[in-house]
Parts: sequence; structure tokens; C-alpha cells
Amino acid sequence: MDKTFRNEVFGQACSWIKEAGDTIRAKIDAPRSIETKSNPNDLVTEMDQETEQFFAEKIKKAYPEHFLLGEEGFGDEIEELQGTVWVVDPIDGTMNFVHQKRNFAISIGIYHDGVGEIGLIYDVMDDALYTAKRGEGAYKNDHKLPQLSKERPLEQSILALNTSWMVPENPHVDHEGMQRLVKKLRSTRSYGSAALEFAYVAEGILDGYLTMTLMPWDYAAGAILVEEVGGTVSRADKGDLDLLKQTTVLASRANIYDEISDEYVQLKK
Ligand code: IPD
Ligand code: CA
Ligand code: CA
Ligand code: CA
Repeated sequence: MDKTFRNEVFGQACSWIKEAGDTIRAKIDAPRSIETKSNPNDLVTEMDQETEQFFAEKIKKAYPEHFLLGEEGFGDEIEELQGTVWVVDPIDGTMNFVHQKRNFAISIGIYHDGVGEIGLIYDVMDDALYTAKRGEGAYKNDHKLPQLSKERPLEQSILALNTSWMVPENPHVDHEGMQRLVKKLRSTRSYGSAALEFAYVAEGILDGYLTMTLMPWDYAAGAILVEEVGGTVSRADKGDLDLLKQTTVLASRANIYDEISDEYVQLKK
């Protein structure tokens, strides 16, 4: 992607994400229409839908040749990653949005021919905008984020984990390995917003994030942010991420990445 054009797109995306966030903040105490999707705990609100629609309209008008891959279905049916694709999660952490009215984010990853060019994660209630452009580092608001430590060992690390897939019934994870990992770590955290968990890894306040089921819009922006500060992002088994599929994800500081994947995470087929 041409740099001048990328800067223009970046500026637009930043102003739209802030505008969408302002709207959500202004309506945070309004009555909510809450529906469920795949199961009774899979929530969606009118605000998720309105926010995605807002981006769909803005993108179509300004960049009719671009595509939108969004969670709530206002985007395009995408089967390949050619051209410029905006991967948008209008509210990441809908359960937090509904129950806590905080700890949720808007996430936008912009990819060109499959390469991540721009990542934006907006922590709406904290008014904190995390941004990255490929090759130019990552920022929290105007503050450039330093490169992540390559020294701190696993026993002094805090890892964000989704505990929901750790129940013994889950057939895909070796629970013995996970238990050893949890014992080895300094501690674990679970924030309920994948996008924020990536942002916190990029910021260096979490050492890593490991999860067994994410969709493209959950990690599209976060992966770019973490890589821009020298972190490593892949599937939990170290395979390449495929932006068109549901996936496991391991994102962490580079020096603990191999150890976590090789010694603790065994996935069962
Ligand atoms: C969810 C959140 C959550 C993660 C789920 C996602 P949503 O996204 O990121 O932290 O564990 O896998 O689906 O539905 O709130 O946008
Ligand atoms: Ca959802
Ligand atoms: Ca999400
Ligand atoms: Ca969402």
C-alpha cells in the first residue's frame, strides 16, 4: 500500500473510530436491546449493529473499492484477501459492554493483499486509542510504545487466558500442560475483550495472550499492534494465522513464545 494513501486511510479510520466511540459513550446508559446469537451467552445489542453499519457506510462512501469483513454481517462476503479489506469488530467485549459498561473496544485491522497495514483498537470508556502502522511502531494515543522486554522469564510473566475452554470437557486442549503453565506463570488475567488483551500485550502490561477460539475481527488489529512492538503472534501451535478462519491465537513477548507453545500447549485433533 502506497504510504501517502495509507496515511490518508489511517487518518480517516482514526477519526471514524473516535466518532463511533463518542456515540457509544453518549448512549452508554440508554435502554439496550439485547439479543442472543449462537447461545444464551453470545450477546449482541443494537449498538454493535449500529456501530458496524456506521463503518460500512463510511467505508463504502469514501473507498468504494475496499471490502469490509465485520462481525455483525453488514460487510462483504469475503473468500480471499485480495485488495484492501477492513476487518472490523464494532464492539469487542459485548458482554462487558452489557454487564459492566466498560472494558470493551472497537477494533479495526486494515489489510492489503493479506498484509496487515493498519491496526486500531479504541478503548471507548477510557478514551485510549491504540494504533499501529506496519513498520512504524505502535502508539497509545500520542505516546510511542517501547519494544517489549526480551529478558523477563515465564515465571515472572502474566498471561491472559480464556478460562472457558479449560474445563475438562473441552477435548481440544491437554489440561495437564495448561495446569503446568498456570503454575509456572506469575499469574493469569481474563479481561473479556480479545482486542484489549492484545492492546495490553502491546503496551507491555500483559506478557501474553493465549486463546483457543478467535474470529478474524477479534485479532486483526491486535496482531499488527503486538508485532509492531517486537512481539510474536501466531496460532497456538505456531502455525500461520489465516484471516478467513476461526483460530487459536498465541500472542506474547518473543522470548516466552516458544516456551509456551512447545512445552505447555498441546492441542488434540
Ligand atoms: C469476544 C471477546 C472475548 C473472546 C470471545 C470473543 P465479542 O468478542 O473478544 O474476549 O473470548 O472469543 O468472541 O463477541 O464480544 O465481540
Ligand atoms: Ca459477538
Ligand atoms: Ca470480538
Ligand atoms: Ca463484537
